[in-house]
Amino acid sequence: MKIYSNYNLSSRHTFSISQLCQWLIEVFSVEDLLTIYQSSRWCHLPKIVLGKGSNILFTEKFDGIVVINKLHGKSVFESETDYHLRIKSGEDWPSLVEWSVREGYFGLENLALIPGCAGSAPIQNIGAYGVELTDVCEYVDVLCLNTFKIKRLSSKECLFGYRDSVFKHQLYEKVIIVAIGLKLTKNWQAKVRHKSLNRCDPRSVTAKQIFDKVCSVRRKKLPDPRVMGNAGSFFKNPVICQEQYQELICKFANIEAYPTKGGMKISAGFLIDNCGLKGKEVGGAKVHSEQALVIVNDSNATAQDIIDLAVFIRKKVLDRYGVVLEYEVRFIGSRSEITLPVMLD
Ligand code: FAD
Ligand code: EPU
Repeated sequence: MKIYSNYNLSSRHTFSISQLCQWLIEVFSVEDLLTIYQSSRWCHLPKIVLGKGSNILFTEKFDGIVVINKLHGKSVFESETDYHLRIKSGEDWPSLVEWSVREGYFGLENLALIPGCAGSAPIQNIGAYGVELTDVCEYVDVLCLNTFKIKRLSSKECLFGYRDSVFKHQLYEKVIIVAIGLKLTKNWQAKVRHKSLNRCDPRSVTAKQIFDKVCSVRRKKLPDPRVMGNAGSFFKNPVICQEQYQELICKFANIEAYPTKGGMKISAGFLIDNCGLKGKEVGGAKVHSEQALVIVNDSNATAQDIIDLAVFIRKKVLDRYGVVLEYEVRFIGSRSEITLPVMLD
């Protein structure tokens, strides 16, 4: 493992905001993780495991260890009907998707260009363009922090939902994901029902063509974190009950919504956009001009600028539409993940 003290985290998370941590340790194996979690030198310090830091915001200095996942390796086992990929959790997700399409293991192409590590993908059940991780996930291997043993969870045990899984609830802070298993059928069929892909003919389109199309749509809509700091969608798309939906469309007939488990899913980007907030700035933070669901670090934003803008957006959407937006981005305070203080909200 590699150990750094008093480390500036700006290159380790996609908002690229300067923030210190007491220790940063890169881990390359399960043994490294065991050392950090068991040895008397490290075990008493607060810890946060990070992949690429593309779904978090450090709100202040982290007084503990930021553990950077560098567990690398992948293998493929073939059965008569499927390819079974075993991917160590520190593998880069976008590179994995590109590699799988090149090698002829199809099924990940709709999830192209989602920044992050493979091992972070189950946590919020990453999803885009009509596919979620749950559609291809066979199992998740975790290191249990009470027994220090590796356990395999079936996809069903992961309790995947929209931007949700068991890792945000029952297993929160109890496990570290060390590998994932993906099952990709040999009888591949294109998934092109998402409106950005519905011009593709499912009978003739190839996985590579879907991969290219998804990459091109994403490059147009989403800011590249290497150019402009951001963490993708700052809020989840809210799911509201039928009753609230009916009331809402009486007042706002053009609201975009899709039926989903538990009610109707509304486009948060639409709501924010229709509050006139595209381009809205607070300090160095700004609502992205192409995609209102994304907050960008436009010019040396502080974490507080990002939070103030997010709180402002929430309030505007609540006042106009009566809809509460939940954060997708996770906030990391001085010793652990935090929820924003109520007074800020
Ligand atoms: P991190 O941000 O490093 O970590 C996220 C959380 O997981 C943290 O709480 C961390 O402590 C925890 N964690 C990380 N690794 C482990 C581990 N091994 N074990 C246990 N806990 C761990 N998401 C989508 O779903 N769909 C999209 O289309 C999408 N587009 C995006 C576009 C952009 C430009 C950006 C910046 C983000 C986007 N995201 C999207 C969000 C992000 O890419 C995903 O949430 C991704 O899975 C995060 O991976 P990461 O490695 O960066 O996780
Ligand atoms: N819209 C607007 N104005 C905007 C943005 C969006 O009116 O500024 C409307 C558009 O009309 C569009 C609709 O909202 O039809 C949906 O927009 P988009 O297709 O860009 O998708 P999204 O709902 O904003 C979700 C995910 C993305 C994922 C895309 C593609 C969430 C929170 N976000 O965004 O995931 O890439 O769909 O499937 O579910 C992420 O989670 O970080 C993320 C980027």
